Amino acid sequence: MAFKKGLFKTSVGRKNLMAATGLFIVFFLVIHLVGNLILILPDSFFPIEFWGNVANQHDMYNAYSHFLVHFWPITVVAWVLYAAILTHVIDALLITLHNNKTKGEKYQVVDNSSSSWISRNMGLLGTVIGVFIIMHMAQFWLQYKVLKVEHDLYNLVVETFKIWWMVVLYEIGIIAFGLHIIHGIESAHRSLGLYPEKAMNVIKVIALWFSLVMAVLYAIIPIILHFK
Ligand code: HEM
Repeated sequence: MAFKKGLFKTSVGRKNLMAATGLFIVFFLVIHLVGNLILILPDSFFPIEFWGNVANQHDMYNAYSHFLVHFWPITVVAWVLYAAILTHVIDALLITLHNNKTKGEKYQVVDNSSSSWISRNMGLLGTVIGVFIIMHMAQFWLQYKVLKVEHDLYNLVVETFKIWWMVVLYEIGIIAFGLHIIHGIESAHRSLGLYPEKAMNVIKVIALWFSLVMAVLYAIIPIILHFK
């Protein structure tokens, strides 16, 4: 009980929780990206003899989505993900409130980061991502997984990106997400104290390149689908 209370009540507990939930969300987003890259793979990648009944990108994407909904361990991971997102948001609000009250201590343990604009605007970037996720989940997750009014997820996604301003909104969300994780990954490793301070320069470079690759791969999906 004391441990549970400490997680939310002490600033170290809150930072650790923020770090752990953030890293878990990033882990989900790597898997999510791999699944969604199916949308831009050429049909020649899905030879029917090799993939069973799957003959093209359309079938493969829908088979993947069907698997996500009907394989129970994935459902469990999805609930952990929703809890992690909510915890991350609540924790961010608590930390911001606390910082506003004390006007001194900031979330970052040591901010000697070269990405100081990003670190100062993590709240703003997080808010843009929050709005993006609400829009994104209302479009796909709600229609397909919850209300079950749309059965062909491939068509739903492809039709969404035929609308140019949807592509623009996605690009804004993805840029905010890319910038947020450059600093988030570095900061999470610092908070959890996983490595000695000397190793943090390496972590910083890895976080930068990882975030760049993730953001670019996510960003090209709506653009390619729009012009296809
Ligand atoms: C252009 C890129 C993207 C596409 C095409 C896409 C597509 C989808 C689709 C079709 C779903 C509903 C089916 C499912 O649960 O997997 C979904 C769910 C979701 N997406 Fe995305 N997504 C993209 C980018 C993102 C980004 C950048 C984020 C976060 C910053 C994100 C966060 C989520 C979350 C949290 C869910 C709910 C997951 C679940 O219920 O398992 N997505 N996405």
